[in-house]
Amino acid sequence: MAQPQQSAGAEAKGPDMAGAGSPERAEAGSPQPAAAEKPPLRVGMIGYAFMGAAHSQGWRTAGRVFDLPRTPVLAALCGRDAVAVRAAADRHGWASAETDWRALIARDDIDLVDICTPGDSHAEIALAALAAGKHVLCEKPLANTVEEAEAMTRAAETAYQQGQVAMVGFNYRRVPATALARSMVAEGRLGSLRHVRVTYLQDWLVDREFPLTWRLRREVAGSGSLGDLGAHIVDLAQYLAGEPLAGVSALTETFVRERPLPTGPSSGLSAVSAHGTGQVTVDDAALFTGRFTSGALASFEATRYATGRKNALRIELNGELGSLAFDLERLNELAYHDGTEPGAHAGFRRILVTEPDHPYLDAWWPPGHGLGYEHTFVHQARDLVHAIAEGRRPEPSFADGLQVQRVLAAVEESAEKNSVYTPIAA
Ligand SMILES: NC(=O)c1ccc[n+]([C@@H]2O[C@H](COP(=O)([O-])OP(=O)(O)OC[C@H]3O[C@@H](n4cnc5c(N)ncnc54)[C@H](O)[C@@H]3O)[C@@H](O)[C@H]2O)c1
Repeated sequence: MAQPQQSAGAEAKGPDMAGAGSPERAEAGSPQPAAAEKPPLRVGMIGYAFMGAAHSQGWRTAGRVFDLPRTPVLAALCGRDAVAVRAAADRHGWASAETDWRALIARDDIDLVDICTPGDSHAEIALAALAAGKHVLCEKPLANTVEEAEAMTRAAETAYQQGQVAMVGFNYRRVPATALARSMVAEGRLGSLRHVRVTYLQDWLVDREFPLTWRLRREVAGSGSLGDLGAHIVDLAQYLAGEPLAGVSALTETFVRERPLPTGPSSGLSAVSAHGTGQVTVDDAALFTGRFTSGALASFEATRYATGRKNALRIELNGELGSLAFDLERLNELAYHDGTEPGAHAGFRRILVTEPDHPYLDAWWPPGHGLGYEHTFVHQARDLVHAIAEGRRPEPSFADGLQVQRVLAAVEESAEKNSVYTPIAA
């Protein structure tokens, strides 16, 4: 698995420069002299709610912070409601709006299609976009089934031979602290890996009256907490470990099986309910253990019923020589224990991941001036632009997304069979 990269053309900057003197930086809204000479990368994005807003920020900002080989242009935004999509385009800085994703893909002034819709449309849109010669960025999980993900991966491979690239949006790889953790594992600082312990805890479904939004319907979302949160932690665990899972043993549960129907469109994790109820057809929580190919053991917990936990993605890796721990709710920090130090002085220490030689940070603020959730989408855009310009497969690729999909399928199969250990299909 590839290493995170420093920003291209970056130079170290002293604390007194306060970031503003960086040759790569331009104030928001000011002209970008270098950008004018670079070829544009014209983006068409489908979906404009939660991830649409986050990706818009990524595309808007990446070329203003990092020295990119191509300049992202927010060319067209697509939604189904003409008035709402026009308003969203104005709010997020898109030059034009479309109400049919097929029309967006047919435009010859679009180079890249960014898919920010629920999982039931990922495969159809991605296959059409690749067939039309576009690069593709697709939100996670890659698809709703292994079969869809296989078709998307085959199409991505064919398209790659024609110079197109396809990436899946596992943005948590792009927190500087997780990227640093990956480098430390790859450098061998943990030695042989023994345990990976991961949880992703939210609580927005604790309220039984929360409406039956698309995330609770299998035909739209594919699965529940498993595909929503579990996909992230499976990808992150495998990325940090540098190896795939070999098999899993799982439990899943749906705690509230009937919910009020929503009124109008939902956005992200919020919605309003009206009359009537409907069936919840996905898991509310998924717990599973796993074995990596090296023999290291892993445990996973994904739930939207962890009362009081808002977005608690936590991962700890224990190796023969040391341990690393990360908590998304404290995302500028990485905890590291060097097991080779004398016992009297040893212990977990906090690395404040804000130094210019930490991943991505050479282009941001002076040390100690932390980043947030939204920066992962800026880094995602940055990395994808580099992959396109350099003609290499971006990571995570559609093949990586397919492999995660196979893990999710094995979790569901195991849960259906009384937690029997289920190998991950190759
Ligand atoms: N990377 C992350 O951290 C992260 C976080 C949340 C969601 N996601 C993923 O992003 C995707 C979208 O989730 P979200 O939270 O943004 O959902 P959302 O409900 O907030 O937004 C979905 C958008 O898609 C639009 N849409 C749906 N079907 C469409 C169609 N056929 N044509 C055009 N537009 C269509 C909706 O109108 C809406 O604008 C999902 O795959 C989800 O799993 C990823």
